[in-house]
Amino acid sequence: MEQITAIVLAAGKGNRMHSEIPKQYLTLYGKPVLYYSLKCFEESPVGEIVLVAGENELDYCRTDIVDRYQFHKVRQIVPGGTERYWSVKRGLEAAAGASYVLIHDAARPCITVDMIERSIAEVKRSGACTVGMPVKDTIKLVDEQGNGMDTPPRNRLWQIQTPQSFSYDELWSAYTKMEREQAVDITDDTMIIERYLGKKTRVIEGSYYNIKITTPEDLQVAATFLKKVKKVVDTAQS
Ligand code: CTP
Ligand code: MG
Repeated sequence: MEQITAIVLAAGKGNRMHSEIPKQYLTLYGKPVLYYSLKCFEESPVGEIVLVAGENELDYCRTDIVDRYQFHKVRQIVPGGTERYWSVKRGLEAAAGASYVLIHDAARPCITVDMIERSIAEVKRSGACTVGMPVKDTIKLVDEQGNGMDTPPRNRLWQIQTPQSFSYDELWSAYTKMEREQAVDITDDTMIIERYLGKKTRVIEGSYYNIKITTPEDLQVAATFLKKVKKVVDTAQS
């Protein structure tokens, strides 16, 4: 049978957030940021969820999030690695046997079931896709001295989000190739497919609400967007 597995990445340290607690465990409307992604996958057509968390946070994730909110689709909670792509690798090992995997950043709580459904439809068509949105600002390539070098045409530039969806076997083989070479500057999995398999990846529409919480001001934006997207009520101890 066709198995669709979500790999939710929550093993980062959140250095750019400068907070004691990693950003995926900060509280919004009384619940940790990670809760919102797990809840969304739980309510989606995805069959199983693999949660990748920091070595020291495995028990907390099990007790205070997965058990507490009864996320039955979370079949495994596994420790991540030092870089995002190593955390994905650990997640892929745990998801062995899946037909398709959806890789998602726990730091993007405004993901929706609609986005997941459209991602599943596209990955079944093309084998590799990501959600993203056209950029709104002009983007410049700047040299190390701070001089603008190039201004790529804005209408061809998209900011890339997650979930990113792949045929399991293809992503696994791209990772196997990556491990044999020196991996540098890898920030997402579509890059790995493009670089190591030489294969194209489809970019489909995500949402401008689907932000990644990265720096402190993003928390306020995420709180506003969550209220809009998930209709959470602003009564809890947020
Ligand atoms: N992530 C992970 N394992 C890592 C690094 C990142 O699972 N070794 C996860 C993060 O928890 C986050 C997602 O990947 O949900 C996106 O990464 P990013 O926004 O860069 O988070 P951090 O690496 O935690 O933050 P920073 O880069 O500011 O340190
Ligand atoms: Mg990071």
